[in-house]
Parts: sequence; C-alpha cells; structure tokens
Amino acid sequence: MSEETHKAETARLDLPEKAVELPVLHGTMGPDVVDIRRLYADGGVFTFDPGFTSTASCESKITFIDGDRGILLYRGYPIEQLAEKSHHLEVAYLLLYGDLPTAAELEDFEERITRHTMVHEQMHYFYRGFRRDAHPMAIMVGVVGAMSAFYQDSTDINDPEQREIASFRMIAKIPTIAAMAYKYSIGQPFIYPRNDLDYASNFLRMCFAVPAEDYEVDPIIARALDRIFLLHADHEQNASTSTVRLAGSSGANPFACIAAGIACLWGPAHGGANEAALNMLREIGTVDRIPEYIRRAKDKSDPFRLMGFGHRVYKNFDPRAKVLKKSADEVLGLLGIENNPTLQVAKELERIALEDDYFIEKKLYPNVDFYSGIILEALGFPTSMFTPIFALSRTVGWIAQWKEMISDPTQKIGRPRQLYTGPTPRDYVDIEYRS
Ligand code: SDX
Repeated sequence: MSEETHKAETARLDLPEKAVELPVLHGTMGPDVVDIRRLYADGGVFTFDPGFTSTASCESKITFIDGDRGILLYRGYPIEQLAEKSHHLEVAYLLLYGDLPTAAELEDFEERITRHTMVHEQMHYFYRGFRRDAHPMAIMVGVVGAMSAFYQDSTDINDPEQREIASFRMIAKIPTIAAMAYKYSIGQPFIYPRNDLDYASNFLRMCFAVPAEDYEVDPIIARALDRIFLLHADHEQNASTSTVRLAGSSGANPFACIAAGIACLWGPAHGGANEAALNMLREIGTVDRIPEYIRRAKDKSDPFRLMGFGHRVYKNFDPRAKVLKKSADEVLGLLGIENNPTLQVAKELERIALEDDYFIEKKLYPNVDFYSGIILEALGFPTSMFTPIFALSRTVGWIAQWKEMISDPTQKIGRPRQLYTGPTPRDYVDIEYRS
C-alpha cells in the first residue's frame, strides 16, 4: 500500500448491534475509499454491491478514469496526447513499467517483442480442430488458454523471470494468434510474422497478405490501426481486467488468466459491443430509420439497447470515442470513403440521441465501441474480427494489471461472499414420501 493511502481518517458505521470505525484511504486522484477489510471481523456484516458499482477491488497505479469529466490517463498521461504522439508498443512499455521509455529502452523493448511474434509450429494443428466457421473469439479463447501447454517454461508465476517472458510472449503472439484465427476462418494459409515490420503493420500483413503475391502495408491504415490498439490498451478495473485479476489471484498461469479475460471481453455488454454496434448501424441503414431505434432503445419492454452507447463509469463523453470519431473522419477521408453511409448514420444517431431527454437524463454518451467498428470496417476487417482486435489491444492492459497484482505483497485470492436468501436447514425426504 503506497504512502498516500495511509492518511489516518475514519468512517463510523452504526450497525444494529454495534458501531464500527473504518479507515478512509486517499489515492492521488479520484474518490476516497472506505477500507472494509475488517468489517466482517469487527462488525459481523458483509457489504452488498452485486455489480461493483461502488466497490474498489484493488489499489492500482496504472490507469485513471474520471467518468464525470471524461478523463482517461495511462500512468498520468492523457489519452488524447498519447493517441496523437505515441504508438501502441510505447504505450505498452508505459503501462508495464510506469514511465515513457528512453529511445534505447524503447528500441530494446520493441526488439524483444518482435523476437517473440512467432507461435510454436505445433499450434497450427490446434487451429485445425476448429470448424472453419468458428467465431475468431472462440478460437482465441481456446488457443490462448492452450498456450500454457506450449510454453510450460513461463508458467511459474512465482519466478519474476518467467513472469517477464510470459508477458513478452503474450503481447508479442496475440496479433499472430488473432491473424491466424482470421486466416483460418476464410480458408487462407497462415502468414508468418516479419521482423522488419512494426506491430500494427505485422498484424495487417498477417491478416491480408497471401503467399501468391507481395503485400505492401498502407501507412495510413497501419497508423489508424495502431491508434485503435493504443486507445483500447487499458481501462482500469473493467469486467475483463477484473476477470484476469481474479483468475490470477488463485495463482493460475498468465496464459489461462488472459484466456479468461478474452472470454469475458466477448460479451456484447463489454468488448463485443464494437461488433454489435456496427451490426446495429447497418441494420438501421439510413438516417430516416433512426427515430424508430431511438424509441426502441427507450422502451423498457424492448431488450434493444443502442450498442456503443452508455458506460458504467463515463457519464460524459468517453474520451476514446472523441478521438475515434475524429479518426474516423480522417481515415475514411484519406481512403476516399468519407461518404460512408454507416458513418453518416452513426453521426446522426449520436446527434439525435444527445438531444433526447432519455439519454441526457441517464447520461448516455457514445463509448469506445461506437466508432471503432466504422474504422475497422474501412481498414478491411470483417465485423467478426472487431472484438479479437479489442482483445489484441487489451492484452497489454491485462498483462500490466496482472503483473501489478502478482507483485503486490498484500495480494490474496479473491473470494467474495454473498447475501444468502435460499432455504433454511431442512431434513432429507426419501423419494417414496415426496409428493
Ligand atoms: C466497454 O468498463 C469498461 O471500462 C468497459 C470498456 C473498456 O474499455 O473496458 O469501456 C469497454 O465495455 C464499453 C461499453 C460497451 N457496451 C455497450 O456499448 C453496450 C450498450 N451499453 C449498455 O449495455 C450499458 O450502457 C453498459 C453495460 C455499458 C453499462 O451498463 P450499466 O453501468 O450497468 O448501466 P445500466 O445498464 O444500469 O444503465 C443505466 C440506465 C438503465 O436504465 P434504467 O434501468 O435506469 O431505467 O441506462 C439505460 C439502462 O436501461 N441504458 C441504456 C443503454 N445503456 C444504459 N439504454 C439504451 N441504450 C443503451 N446503450
């Protein structure tokens, strides 16, 4: 626990049987926290917060979000500045080690990542067990989980060196694994990574090159894709990161933890929203159909929600959505498809929603998933690859958060309790006496 969190202040909780004094801890930014670790021992009660809407699960120095002001910082650096001036592997270094690298540190880091981009040749056969029409996320969950069967020499989480090599392998190989999932789904041969390409260019080539001809990476597309990677790299204690931390708290190997994170990210309420958002925009199709979908989104009897809208933390614009909206204009303009109908529908949908009392009152704004799909589609990716690209990007954050948790000397296995409302004790009834 860092110094800032030791300031002595307390909160008094008056329970039916007794009063309990609980320490209040202060971070460097954001809300104070009431430390309830002694609450059950001293007060005999649990707290109750099923969606963790008011619960801090850990202390972290990696990413800070101010949802009311739409602020996102990676190790203190505003996401807008990083999106404009940095690139994904430099941000990966920042998230992992806490500071921007020197030129020499960055060169060494990128060289080490590059040297780990190939996967074990035997993994090619693992892919062949899937149906060709398997969703790439299903393949990624399986293949990443299986990495502990191929890289047993980096699964001992108590060995700092093995943790480091596992981290490099995971960040380096996830683009290769995602590209192989895509190639497998379209029946094309796998393309090996190349050491003379940067991270985003390598991924583009592994996805879109074919052995029959040379492939030139378009620098505009590579830069746009790298920015998408960077914007999705980390996001505090979101559902998939919390999944990685909880899996890691049992001592599970890092590959199994990242596979758990990929599985959680797949949900349409989380990372799966980028695929769902583009499918929704396509379904709406034209601007004149927007009012019908706004009405459905507000109708409690209709399960439809505006995908890519709303956020547990942001009650203002998601700063990533702002950057992506600007990037969508730039990239589609540079690619000569600025009149993309899906982008026009997205912009009009955003305009109408943000003037609607329902969305204003519930503070529902576009989130990171609202515009990302439009850019990814323009870059040539099918919707089935949108969430795998999110998972590829977030692997950096998951690894950074997992490393922070594992190296925290106060770390314990995560084991929440419950409010039990089931049957009270009763005796077994033999089957002949049951009615
Ligand atoms: C990501 O946590 C992270 O940081 C995640 C993420 C990351 O980088 O890791 O930012 C990535 O997952 C972004 C979110 C992607 N999901 C979507 O775009 C799916 C659509 N959005 C919703 O399902 C919803 O907004 C959530 C899941 C994102 C947040 O849900 P909450 O915080 O549990 O809020 P809620 O469901 O309680 O909604 C509050 C109210 C409800 O109305 P009431 O019951 O109070 O009357 O707002 C309504 C909801 O019905 N609402 C929506 C809505 N989102 C919320 N109504 C219509 N359309 C929506 N999109």
